Amino acid sequence: MAKTKTAYVCNECGADFMRWQGQCSECSAWNCITEVRLGAVKTKNTRLDGYAGTTVAKVMRLDEVDLQEVPRFSTGFVEFDRVLGGGIVPGSAILIGGHPGAGKSTLLLQMMCGLAEQGGALYVTGEESLQQVAMRAQRLGLPMGALKMLAETNVETICQLAQQEKPRIMVIDSIQVMHLADVQSAPGSVSQVRESAAFLTRFAKQYHIAIIMVGHVTKDGSLAGPKVLEHCIDCSVMLDGDTDSRYRTMRGHKNRFGPVNELGVFAMTGQGMKEVKNPSAIFLTRGKEDQSGSIVMVLWEGTRPLLVEIQGLVDYSPLNNPRRVTLGMEQNRISMLLAVMHRHGGLQMADQDVFVNVVGGVKVNETSADLATLLALVSSFRDKPLPNDLVVFGEVGLAGEIRPVPSGQERLREAAKHGFRRAIVPMANAPKEAIEGMQVIGVSKLAEALEAI
Ligand code: TYD
Ligand code: MG
Repeated sequence: MAKTKTAYVCNECGADFMRWQGQCSECSAWNCITEVRLGAVKTKNTRLDGYAGTTVAKVMRLDEVDLQEVPRFSTGFVEFDRVLGGGIVPGSAILIGGHPGAGKSTLLLQMMCGLAEQGGALYVTGEESLQQVAMRAQRLGLPMGALKMLAETNVETICQLAQQEKPRIMVIDSIQVMHLADVQSAPGSVSQVRESAAFLTRFAKQYHIAIIMVGHVTKDGSLAGPKVLEHCIDCSVMLDGDTDSRYRTMRGHKNRFGPVNELGVFAMTGQGMKEVKNPSAIFLTRGKEDQSGSIVMVLWEGTRPLLVEIQGLVDYSPLNNPRRVTLGMEQNRISMLLAVMHRHGGLQMADQDVFVNVVGGVKVNETSADLATLLALVSSFRDKPLPNDLVVFGEVGLAGEIRPVPSGQERLREAAKHGFRRAIVPMANAPKEAIEGMQVIGVSKLAEALEAI
């Protein structure tokens, strides 16, 4: 017999509770738990069975599992493939998140028009009308002959049609407008998004259809409550970037089939999204003159190096508590670096405001930026520009020692490729054989680094 089920769901993180409470015990947010009527839930869990026929569950050994190795297929974009860990795994559920206007629909439309040429691509649009999508495709000059389109927001209907069409890949744009008839709350609410995504994920697994769901992020940058979708999907990637800047970065947050630390870079142009094959070049547009407080370092992003510029500004502060402001970097790290500089470098900045900025909106969460940040601050403090062809990386320890970082050789080679002629690096990262056209200074103490500049 069907009975109505009531659940209490946190709107912030999607956690379930038996009864109402004022504070969510998962994410500690207040007044965020709402009652959700899940509608008539059939006593047997038969929602998908309507399409699938009942499958009998069976226990088996791991080596008995049929491995049906299906190769990944490419999205047509090298950068997108890299973030996904080498292409799309058939039957996987991928979530692509980003702010409205980030370019998710544009990128996916370009991708799907390309993939449709090889057959089996279905684009489900719930936000834009079919005419709008067609007009965009026409304006971008995409091949329109093969892509199947569907304007629908009911998940059950979509799955029924997809079952007949048997596409290899399906795009759902966006998950926030999808709804299941069984769930009695408005589309976009946590319970609708969660149930719809779970339904689509099960469908993807059962019919080996790769599904890419678009998700808009909320104001605080989370995807309709951060934990709502993460557990059920296979990969989650985010498309970031200011709408007033041309560049968009794509990063994996969860990936069941590969690493998550890869970075893909795109540019939004008049002809849609274009891949940026050499991202170092765009983050490095510097003037010809030497400026104090500016330095270039080499980050390690997933499997490749990325050159970025770090700027420091040190200025006398009238405040009792001088400011420590960072953009693109963790603030506590600066306090720590300043303390190390005071103890081991003999430079006192207690009465100075300190600002650090990573140019181009890049986010640095690597310790290899320590030495570069410190030298940028010293350069600004003394108002002495550093040479234009100098590149620096290395971790700074609390005892003033300079620690090695992974992939030192590759970082140096990337810098040499972009015309840098001098480098200050941790002693252990200094190459045994000289790199052509580059003078590498290995340092093991902060004092040595300060002397070197
Ligand atoms: P869109 O893909 O609709 O974003 P999303 O689906 O992530 O919300 O992209 C919309 C933005 O992209 C819009 O602000 C205009 C810009 N844009 C271009 O600059 N060039 C183009 O060719 C297209 C199609 C969009
Ligand atoms: Mg869109």
